[in-house]
Amino acid sequence: MAGSGLFSVITRPVVIALVIGGIGGMVFIGFLNEFHHFASRNEFCTSCHSMTFAETVYQQSAHYNSASGVRASCGDCHVSPGLLASTWDHVVGATDFFKQLFGENYDDPVINALHLPESAFMAREWFRKRDSASCRYCHVQEAIQGERTHTAAIHREETEGKTCIDCHTNLVHRPVPDERTFKRDAWNRMIEEEFGLEPGTADRLLAKPRPE
Ligand code: HEC
Ligand code: HEC
Ligand code: HEC
Ligand code: HEC
Repeated sequence: MAGSGLFSVITRPVVIALVIGGIGGMVFIGFLNEFHHFASRNEFCTSCHSMTFAETVYQQSAHYNSASGVRASCGDCHVSPGLLASTWDHVVGATDFFKQLFGENYDDPVINALHLPESAFMAREWFRKRDSASCRYCHVQEAIQGERTHTAAIHREETEGKTCIDCHTNLVHRPVPDERTFKRDAWNRMIEEEFGLEPGTADRLLAKPRPE
C-alpha cells in the first residue's frame, strides 16, 4: 500500500488522466470560443443574408453608423452573450443551413420579401424569450437618457413586465408591422406592386413553395 485514504486514489495514471482531461477541456473551450467568433461575424451571416433586405437597411441604421463608432454586428444582436448560450444558438442556427438548402429559394428577392414577416416574428419572439439579453449586453436600461425629455423616465417607470423588443422593433431591417395587426393581404399587394407583379402572384408563390 502506497498510502492511505485520498492519496491512495491519486495514483500516477489518475494524475496523467486529469492533466490530459484538463488540457483537452481547455482546448475545447478555446475551440468553442474561436468558433463563436467565426460564426458571429457579419461576413458569415451575410454570406447567405446579403441578397436579402437584412443587410441593406442595416447599413443605414444607427447601429451601423453610430456617432461613437460603436457598431453592432449581426452576432451582437442575434447570438446570446456567454459561451454556453452562444454555442447553443449556433447549434440551433445550423438549421439555417437546411432552410437554405431544402427550403424555399430565399435568395429570390420576391420570395424573401413575402416570407419576411414570419421571419421577423420569429426573430422578435427569440428576443422576447431571452428578455432581450443581447440588447442589454450593450444598453443599460436605467442609463438610457435618449434625446427627448421623457426617455429616461419611460425606461425607469414604464418598463415593468416589458422588454426592449416589446417597444423597439424595426431597428435595422425593413419595417414589418406588429404581428397582432399584420395583414397578409395588404403585405402581398405591397410586394406585388414593389416588384411590378400581376395581382395574385404573391398568393400563388406562397401556395407553391418551390417552383421547378
Ligand atoms: C447557410 C446560409 C445561412 C447562414 C450562414 C445564416 N443564415 Fe440565417 N437564415 C438562413 C435561411 C435560409 C433562413 C430562413 C429564411 C429567412 O428567414 O430569411 C434564415 C433565417 C434567419 C433568421 C430568421 C428568424 C429565425 O429565427 O429563423 C434570423 C434572425 C437569421 N437567419 C439570422 C442569422 C444570423 C445572425 C446569422 C449569422 C450568425 C445567420 N443567420 C447565418 C440562412 C442562413
Ligand atoms: C453592440 C452593442 C449594441 C447592441 C447589441 C444593441 N445596441 Fe442599440 N445601440 C447601440 C449603439 C452604439 C447605438 C447608437 C446610438 C448611441 O450611441 O447611443 C444604439 C442605438 C439604439 C437605439 C436608438 C437608435 C435607433 O435606431 O432607434 C435604440 C432604440 C436601440 N439601440 C435599441 C436596441 C435594442 C432593442 C437592441 C436589441 C435588439 C439593441 N439596441 C442592441 C449599441 C448596441
Ligand atoms: C415601455 C416601452 C419601452 C421599453 C420596454 C424600452 N424602451 Fe427604449 N424607448 C421607448 C420610447 C417610447 C422611447 C422614445 C422616447 C421619446 O420619444 O421620448 C425610447 C427610447 C430609447 C432610446 C433612445 C433613442 C433616442 O434617439 O432618443 C434607446 C437607446 C432605447 N430606447 C433603448 C432601449 C433598450 C435597449 C431597452 C431594453 C433594455 C428599451 N429601450 C426598453 C420605450 C421603451
Ligand atoms: C441592433 C440589433 C440587430 C442587428 C445589428 C441585426 N439584427 Fe437582425 N433583427 C433584429 C431584430 C430586432 C429583428 C426582429 C425584426 C425587427 O423588428 O426588425 C431582426 C430580424 C432579423 C431577420 C428576420 C427577417 C427580418 O428582416 O426581420 C433576419 C434574417 C436578420 N435579422 C438577420 C440579420 C443579419 C444577417 C444581420 C447583420 C447584417 C442582422 N440581422 C443585424 C436585430 C438586429
